[in-house]
Amino acid sequence: MKKILITGGAGFIGSHVVRLFVAKYSEYQIYNLDALTYAGNLENLADIEKAANYTFIKGDITDESFITNLFEKHQFDGVIHLAAESHVDRSIEDPMAFVKTNVIGTVNLLNAARKLWAKNPEGKRFYHISTDEVYGSLGAEGLFTETTPYDPNSPYSASKASSDHFVRAYGETYDLPYVLTNCSNNYGPNHFPEKLIPLFINNIITNKPLPVYGDGNYTRDWLFVVDHAIAIDLVFHEGINHETYNIGGFNEWKNIDLVQLLCSIMDNKLGRVAGKSAELITYVKDRPGHDLRYAIDANKINAELGWKPSVTFEQGLEITVNWYLNNPDWLHNVTSGEYADYYKKQYVK
Ligand SMILES: NC(=O)c1ccc[n+]([C@@H]2O[C@H](COP(=O)([O-])OP(=O)(O)OC[C@H]3O[C@@H](n4cnc5c(N)ncnc54)[C@H](O)[C@@H]3O)[C@@H](O)[C@H]2O)c1
Repeated sequence: MKKILITGGAGFIGSHVVRLFVAKYSEYQIYNLDALTYAGNLENLADIEKAANYTFIKGDITDESFITNLFEKHQFDGVIHLAAESHVDRSIEDPMAFVKTNVIGTVNLLNAARKLWAKNPEGKRFYHISTDEVYGSLGAEGLFTETTPYDPNSPYSASKASSDHFVRAYGETYDLPYVLTNCSNNYGPNHFPEKLIPLFINNIITNKPLPVYGDGNYTRDWLFVVDHAIAIDLVFHEGINHETYNIGGFNEWKNIDLVQLLCSIMDNKLGRVAGKSAELITYVKDRPGHDLRYAIDANKINAELGWKPSVTFEQGLEITVNWYLNNPDWLHNVTSGEYADYYKKQYVK
């Protein structure tokens, strides 16, 4: 039996990864370690919380002695590390929180894995989940490949870049068996509504302004979260040690075009006249260090591991919008309390 530690499993992507592993690998024990920050929500996993092969552990990856003891106690065979502070806007407000969780937290996990697996690294694996934002910004042309030099521009991407470097350094220095992936923007169910797509779905439902940064020409490559979870499963089991894989949706959208598409889907779903939701679009002052364009070349994972997205953007958005419309309680619960204060500070001038 394999014991797998998934960190950040109560968050957006982590909850999809936990669900997939718990359902698919009944012979594994899956341990979900999460500090339950504002972004962590056990409601995301209500459907599997009683599964025999699932254990939730509340804890903080920045707590060194807690992490060391946890690894000694459970003797994990693999780590899938997703726990992070993940929102760029918040990193501009409070960079230190990102240094603590994304850098120090990652190094704590690396140290614990290294110590536990030193005598027998055979069959062990540390999988670090990262972002395409570490590569910086593209102009109108070109794609990020696995060899694109790192050039992070926000405190968030700098902290993720730093953690990626530590993972690679532990591979080189201590021969820690690791794999690393850099993925483009995810969307889908259970996404906290501070990020663009769920924020806008929520604001359209509640008739609030849709704050579009700058001129709306920022371009991102969007991937359905379940397809990311499927890629993570594949890389965890079949990726080559010490390799990096880029994961992307082959699906670039300018923010303003994406918002227009979302508005027209929502008009349709809510029975509004065409163009009604788009009246909510308002352009707001740009954020500092805003990267113009990210686009991923995902040909390596496609060619070597046979992965490609399973749904089109239209299909993925349809599933996502339906999920938010069918889960008003989830949306209400996460948009009350701390979130309401954050929203006012960030968007209501
Ligand atoms: N969302 C995206 O589009 C995207 C794209 C590429 C890569 N990533 C990466 O994927 C990972 C997951 O992203 P997400 O969007 O699901 O994030 P998220 O913010 O939704 O979830 C992060 C989870 O980590 C937990 N956490 C935070 N600090 C912790 C700590 N100190 N100790 C233990 N748990 C802690 C939170 O409670 C939360 O459950 C991150 O590493 C992120 O950098 C995200």
